[in-house]
Amino acid sequence: MLKPEIEDGQASLADPAFRADVLNGLAARPRAIPARWFYDRRGSELFEAITTLDEYYPTRTETAILDAACADIGDRVGTGRAVIEFGSGSSTKTPILLRCIAPAAYVPIDISGDFLRESAAGLADAFPAIEVYPVEANFMQPVRLPAPVADLPKLGFFPGSTIGNLTAFGAVDLLRTMRASLGEGSMLLIGIDRIKPADILVPAYDDARGVTAAFNLNLIERINRELDGDLPVDAFRHRAIWNDDAARIEMHLEALRDVSFHVDGRAFSIAAGESIHTENSHKYGPRDARALLRAGGWTPVAEWTDARDWFGLILAEAQPRPMAP
Ligand code: AVI
Repeated sequence: MLKPEIEDGQASLADPAFRADVLNGLAARPRAIPARWFYDRRGSELFEAITTLDEYYPTRTETAILDAACADIGDRVGTGRAVIEFGSGSSTKTPILLRCIAPAAYVPIDISGDFLRESAAGLADAFPAIEVYPVEANFMQPVRLPAPVADLPKLGFFPGSTIGNLTAFGAVDLLRTMRASLGEGSMLLIGIDRIKPADILVPAYDDARGVTAAFNLNLIERINRELDGDLPVDAFRHRAIWNDDAARIEMHLEALRDVSFHVDGRAFSIAAGESIHTENSHKYGPRDARALLRAGGWTPVAEWTDARDWFGLILAEAQPRPMAP
């Protein structure tokens, strides 16, 4: 989703979906812009930096769980599958999984062709026995898998608790879409971050070095660059809030003063203290996570966690829909 440089202040070739989401999101109350627009090149780099921060426990924790559960996962999943990774990015967890289960094929699906090609090439080199078929697509929509993997048993891989960035409504839609893409009888290995005290959660999304703040504020810079915006970046601050009722961290861009600005020729204003909601990161207790998976058509069959119960890695199966009373 990289855009060409903008010359002479002209917003050229902006993604129409980005323009629509930003214009609609700024006009709505409460103001909200979908979190997927964080991930231009700079945003993707900043996210990679976030995953290595002391405060950001999910990546480390999930990687350690995957390492520890490797043999067990291998026993339950078996060899020779096609691993379908949803939103592969530049994942460092994939090689661990591939070593654990020795699949026949690996299909990374990502909307960002750049990251997709880089990570697919790296994995193809590292695992010469595994066929790699990258698919550039939005995995929120049903994905047609490459013909050579059609008849292989499948394992979906969706680590990182990315499911938490959706509302429960959207998460169930996505799980059902994944089920439709992979087919009945497939398995899914999914990472889901757990509810924990706010004094752990908030710093994970508001780190001392300000990397998450830069990640959030980069959205304003992207709007200015790609949509001919004139938002003063210094008039906004990053905020991370634990919403206990909704069991989620919310990220907001809060106006520090009254601001008037333009995007794509349209005028907007925001008063001091008001904010633009830019991300939800839902957290789930173990039972909540299992209920979510069942609602999406996936039956949990095994689960692993860390010593502190901070993160869950769940293996689920797309079983035939059971008779219910
Ligand atoms: C990608 N996703 C799972 C991250 C999360 O934890 O919700 C995105 C993120 N936002 C701020 N820090 C990390």
